[in-house]
Amino acid sequence: MGNISLTRAQNALRGTVAVPGDKSISHRAVMFGSIAKGTTTINNFLLGEDCLSTISCFRKLGVSIKQKDNTVAIEGKGFEGLSEPAEVLDVGNSGTTIRLMLGILANTPFHSVILGDSSIGKRPMKRVTGPLRQMGAKLDGREEGNLVPISIRGGSTKGITHTSAVASAQVKSAVLLAGLRAEGETTVIEPHKSRDHTERMLDSFGVKTVSSENSVTITGGQSLKAAHIEVPGDISSAAFFLVAGSIVPDSEITLKKVGLNPTRTGILDVLLAMGANITLSNESSDGKEPYADLTITFSSLKGTEISGDFIPRLIDEIPVIALAATQAEGTTIIKDAAELKVKETDRIDTVVRQLSAMGADIEATDDGMIIHGQTKLRGTQCDSFGDHRIGMMLAVASLIAEGETVISNSEATAVSYPGFYEELKKLQQ
Ligand code: S3P
Repeated sequence: MGNISLTRAQNALRGTVAVPGDKSISHRAVMFGSIAKGTTTINNFLLGEDCLSTISCFRKLGVSIKQKDNTVAIEGKGFEGLSEPAEVLDVGNSGTTIRLMLGILANTPFHSVILGDSSIGKRPMKRVTGPLRQMGAKLDGREEGNLVPISIRGGSTKGITHTSAVASAQVKSAVLLAGLRAEGETTVIEPHKSRDHTERMLDSFGVKTVSSENSVTITGGQSLKAAHIEVPGDISSAAFFLVAGSIVPDSEITLKKVGLNPTRTGILDVLLAMGANITLSNESSDGKEPYADLTITFSSLKGTEISGDFIPRLIDEIPVIALAATQAEGTTIIKDAAELKVKETDRIDTVVRQLSAMGADIEATDDGMIIHGQTKLRGTQCDSFGDHRIGMMLAVASLIAEGETVISNSEATAVSYPGFYEELKKLQQ
């Protein structure tokens, strides 16, 4: 397990970054291309370990997928083209891969076994296996189908109306993907709207869904036609630079072609409310997913309160928002975010422990955290605990910390951002 040693930024951060492709969109492009008929091509595919796990699983399901750098070509033969895997499907660290793939496998008339790494081994799957069983799929796993390894034998399914207890795009997408081949209509109702990349991309593949505020309906029996997908930059990766540029004095960073799907832009709304200086330029859209260049300059921040509908729009950015809050004037309160406990790590616990070790005034609550700002951070021995977003947050923290910051399990960042530390370093020259 690797360590990385980082020191305080000697200079302002200046330059331009093309953040890698969006993780959620990259996963879906491979999955939908694999069950579509024809050749699907993907540009700016994220070469993070999570998305490579998705490619590896669909190859084991018999799909021919060619990948050269960040360009991918998939020879889809429709649902019928998937075949019984001879090997176990290993999703690595990727929650999106396992949950969405389960939705697809609910309708394949064969047997598959899925597992992942030690983090996946702790993450709850009942939220997906529950509704898929109700639709007719045969599933099992530890704790009655809640934990991997999970085995699934798909078959004929029938549509359901599923009211999810959590706002989760992974749950919503899994049930909708099962609904694609189910008899009748399938509806998912959520407490708050989650990211809608599945609905947008299904449209590109010729599949219609009907959405209202917090619900989506799909009619079974629709098939996918191959598409071309241009993946915009990942706003969840851009978030680390947005915060870095806001807290390192005199900085100015431009982030090129960042995806701005409104179900993902909570980070912009929150940073702007905190007083950040962010401007948008070259705003455009591929017809489905909007994007723009973002420029961030240093500014003094103030505390804020984040809760309710906001949470799903920035769930993955909370670790780095917590860091920004340590530098803001006043108090920041984050609530309604109990979902953080079932991410790659328990992110309430890991964020609070790691930032406390660096000198932050931060306390955990049942469903979030409270941060009293304007604390000086000091470098210390930290740990990503194998969580990519914790590793990147700590690297950004090191830029303003006194002395040396050592991050254990530093390689975790490759899950969503290979080359992250190098990119951060380049901005300091
Ligand atoms: C994702 C949805 C989110 C997010 C994850 C990616 C997706 O999870 O945290 O990183 O691609 O659908 P939930 O929808 O389970 O909250």
